[in-house]
Amino acid sequence: MTSSRTERSPRSTPEEGRPAGAWGRLWLRLAPTQINGWVRAMALATVLANITLILTGGAVRLTQSGLGCPTWPRCTDASWSNVPEMGIHGYIEFGNRLLTFVLTVVAVLTWLAVVRIRARQRDLFVLATILALGIPVQAVVGGISVHMELNPWVVGIHFILSGIMIALGSILYSRARRYSLERVREAERLHAVDAADPLMRRLGIIALAIAAFAVYMGTLVTGTGPHSGDAESARHAFDAVLVTRMHSVPVWILLIVIAAILVLRARRGWAPGVARSAWLLVAVMAYQGVVGYTQYFNGLPGWLVELHLLGAGLTIWAAAALFDRMTVLGTSALRERAIQRVSAPVDRELIEEGGPAESA
Ligand code: HEM
Repeated sequence: MTSSRTERSPRSTPEEGRPAGAWGRLWLRLAPTQINGWVRAMALATVLANITLILTGGAVRLTQSGLGCPTWPRCTDASWSNVPEMGIHGYIEFGNRLLTFVLTVVAVLTWLAVVRIRARQRDLFVLATILALGIPVQAVVGGISVHMELNPWVVGIHFILSGIMIALGSILYSRARRYSLERVREAERLHAVDAADPLMRRLGIIALAIAAFAVYMGTLVTGTGPHSGDAESARHAFDAVLVTRMHSVPVWILLIVIAAILVLRARRGWAPGVARSAWLLVAVMAYQGVVGYTQYFNGLPGWLVELHLLGAGLTIWAAAALFDRMTVLGTSALRERAIQRVSAPVDRELIEEGGPAESA
């Protein structure tokens, strides 16, 4: 984008062209007119914050602190926060609730980071908006799970929503990199519009669907297992061995699909970026598989379950990144749209000032 808006000095307010004060400069940093390092950093922070929330939510469940605050939105009927008499469970559960504010700050900063590029990169703006609106939705679902005494169906939905947030954050991050980093576009051979292969798009969708099914089955395994979050909470009546098998089978199928993607990539000349994303997914799945089987054969120790939650977050991140890459590169229209959204060279003055902008 080479409009006059993008070439203005950061010391001027863009609207009036007059010198900006400290607040004006802060605004320009927080809400750039080009995708720069700040925008990418905030997209990455969104993914990491949502993975962290899965981990802290897991810590609440694994320490049996799920009803550490027995009601919602207050912690108790008489208090918004936990009180010392409630013990360690109160601190853990209330601490997890406080993390919502950290997530909110990250979401607001991410939204601001893309608000002034929304005309050209509309998709980033839509994603950041959905991610911000997802926080109150998640808070309410978390509250419902407390009111329903950690019913495993509701807890499962709570997890799935976090998974969706991670996937959307992953797509936001992938696209911000694509639009602003030349090396990413080269690895994707984005400009070779004729190279779009519908088979690539289809396999990208299939891979994400299988990963989503594996994750969903994982929540059923958890709902059947011993880590309910409170000794009194209901459990699914599924057969534990059967439901675990139904969780691991799609994982193996996904590995076969990824192997097919890698073979087809070499045969059909798909861009090297596809192989990179596929290998990354294989790597996190290998980690996740080792942790999954080890916890399963060792009576589900809490610390391994926590490591499995980390792997779940990373797998969703990697699967969504592969999906985005394969669907965009596999569809000519999406490639063309992505090319139109490529960011203009960044503001030279901002680079010279050592600001957050990075060379594309
Ligand atoms: C790509 C691979 C995998 C992914 C993405 C994945 C994801 C998940 C997820 C999302 C959960 C539910 C977490 C929660 O609701 O708190 C879960 C639970 C579980 N997974 Fe996996 N998983 C994978 C592979 C495996 C494998 C290969 C096994 C081997 C048997 C396994 C065994 C388990 C067990 C036993 C649980 C229940 C843990 C508990 O009781 O809290 N997972 N998994």
